Amino acid sequence: MFPPHPTELLHVLLESEIVTGDFAIDATAGNGHDTVFLARAVGATGRVVAIDIQQQALASTAVRLESEGLRERVMLHCGCHSDLAEIAGSDRPRAIVFNLGYLPGGDHDLITQTENTLKALSAASDILMPRGVLAVVCYPGHIGGDEEAAAVEVFITSLKAQRTARYSMILRDKTTPFLLLSKKSG
Ligand SMILES: C[S@@+](CC[C@H](N)C(=O)[O-])C[C@H]1O[C@@H](n2cnc3c(N)ncnc32)[C@H](O)[C@@H]1O
Repeated sequence: MFPPHPTELLHVLLESEIVTGDFAIDATAGNGHDTVFLARAVGATGRVVAIDIQQQALASTAVRLESEGLRERVMLHCGCHSDLAEIAGSDRPRAIVFNLGYLPGGDHDLITQTENTLKALSAASDILMPRGVLAVVCYPGHIGGDEEAAAVEVFITSLKAQRTARYSMILRDKTTPFLLLSKKSG
């Protein structure tokens, strides 16, 4: 649909940054939509690590990857994204994607938490390759989501980056999701 939702816009914008053979991380696998996008973008010679604290999310992501023939490009990791540096190993990712909040269709109490999210984002910005992209979709509409979204925006703004941007749809209230993008200095 036009104009795109921030989650759709994220894919459009990242498509031109990720090249075949790249390494990318989906820090919140959820139902696997972003993981599938990243797995396609890195191509047959690239690889993706997808992280989620819920086994249910990873199972859903695995099904989606299998149906697209992309399962072999992705390592699924059940754990917390604040351990992202250890999970990623020595490779430096071109892109790291966070899609905050809860698992659609899952337990709405299992949501990303501000302090932990900031820790994970800090690790993410450290391990990104030069000119790599950190992308975060924030959801201020649920309880705690507004505080998390505001803190994430402050964090992203504070990064020494080549370019930083914020995209959102226009709604009558302030609960609309928004996308933050930061391209690391080279
Ligand atoms: C909005 S969903 C992600 C949507 C997903 N990217 C997609 O394309 O379908 C948010 C996910 O973050 C996960 N999550 C919450 N806290 C987490 C944490 N500390 N580490 C990793 N994943 C976490 C939740 O389990 C949930 O599946």
